[in-house]
Amino acid sequence: MFRSRFPIVFLSLALLMSACDSNSRVSSPEQPTDTFDPQATFRYDTYGDEALWTDVLRFHEVVETISPATALAVGLKVDAEALPDGLLATADLTDPATTVELLRLDAVVGIKAEVGADGRVSHFGVTCALCHSDVDDSVAPGVGFRLDGWPAKDLDPGLILSLSPFFDDKPQLRAELQSWGPGMYDPYWNLDGISDPVVIAPAYGLKDVALETYTGEGPVSYWNAYVAVTQMGGQGNFEEPLLNISVTADPDLVTPKLPALREYQESLLAPAPPPGSFDAAAAERGRQLFAGKAECSGCHVGPQLTDAGVTLHEAHEIGADPLYATRTITRRYRTTPLRALWQHPPYYHNGEFETLEAVVAHYDLVLNLGLAGDEQSDLVEYLKSL
Ligand code: HEC
Ligand code: HEC
Repeated sequence: MFRSRFPIVFLSLALLMSACDSNSRVSSPEQPTDTFDPQATFRYDTYGDEALWTDVLRFHEVVETISPATALAVGLKVDAEALPDGLLATADLTDPATTVELLRLDAVVGIKAEVGADGRVSHFGVTCALCHSDVDDSVAPGVGFRLDGWPAKDLDPGLILSLSPFFDDKPQLRAELQSWGPGMYDPYWNLDGISDPVVIAPAYGLKDVALETYTGEGPVSYWNAYVAVTQMGGQGNFEEPLLNISVTADPDLVTPKLPALREYQESLLAPAPPPGSFDAAAAERGRQLFAGKAECSGCHVGPQLTDAGVTLHEAHEIGADPLYATRTITRRYRTTPLRALWQHPPYYHNGEFETLEAVVAHYDLVLNLGLAGDEQSDLVEYLKSL
């Protein structure tokens, strides 16, 4: 069984064990595999994680006290397509009742809530879209059409989690959660008790990438099951002897949906760079440097610009912080597939580099490349073109 110093998963697992007794409503009942809608598994499925978010963390109560203005400030997004015409023009964004109305309309990206006729929230759960979707801000800041697969760079998951009364008597844990900041999350914190968050990764452009995650744990479905069960609190099976994890749930609301979830993620293409956002001639010179003098293609190879599936790398090879890798089963870093880099700063797993200029300057130093200033800027233009 799972040994965990930290209680989120520990408690959620205790609940998972008694899932059949739990009064939490499961938002999508068991169906044969081929009937799962790929998009819905990503956008709307909670995998039964109300057992954690409602029963343990009591977010159905928390959310009734939060104004839309506050919700937007912690990086939650509103799906314009779910809003009736004119709602925003008349809504009071300082009134928590508006938040509840948005939840009733299923308009808050990545959150599924059940709202009764009395306006009370009875069930609250989260979906993959919480951390892996953004909106295009076309209606207002934080309100627009969904951009599935885009990392939720404004979302502050640690701050949101810290609002749970579960942490009232755990000030140290609450302080750790509040230290992570927007766009960051630590998917091992509740297992090993180390607070060392990583950048929420894009979930687009993953087709034909051999291994997912910064440390190349496995193919996409391995990680999807890991996150759904050990992080979201979904009710499903997940086994990882190397991390002492062995969770089963009956019914298993995760495993049968993994093929649909994978299909949807693999359909999400990396967004192309905006027109005019890079200098094409410089990018072409940069492309030649990438494969030549700058030695990048020693690791960033093939159509996805990664050697994942062939090898993983020690932190020192690329001058990365080793800590995160030491917490994982591979203990090494995967060469990140380079896609839509323009869209998702900061860079490296822990976001240590704010800009592509800083990444290139770092490589110049660590790999002792001796790149001149104009060569570095050409390389940057190439990276912006991907
Ligand atoms: C609380 C925020 C959060 C939620 C919810 C979440 N993820 Fe993630 N996801 C992350 C973070 C952080 C990473 C980076 C971890 C790593 O790569 O080591 C990540 C990485 C990934 C990756 C790897 C991307 C790559 O670059 O290889 C995939 C795929 C993914 N998540 C899919 C999902 C799916 C599917 C769900 C729902 C079952 C989900 N995530 C739910 C935060 C989240
Ligand atoms: C020894 C293998 C290796 C070489 C050589 C290499 N990289 Fe990387 N690259 C990696 C690994 C591994 C990571 C992941 C580091 C991390 O997340 O901490 C990475 C990450 C990156 C990132 C960040 C991507 C993101 O989404 O965060 C960029 C950009 C990048 N490399 C560009 C380059 C460029 C440009 C060169 C040549 C100057 C280069 N790399 C050379 C292995 C390599």
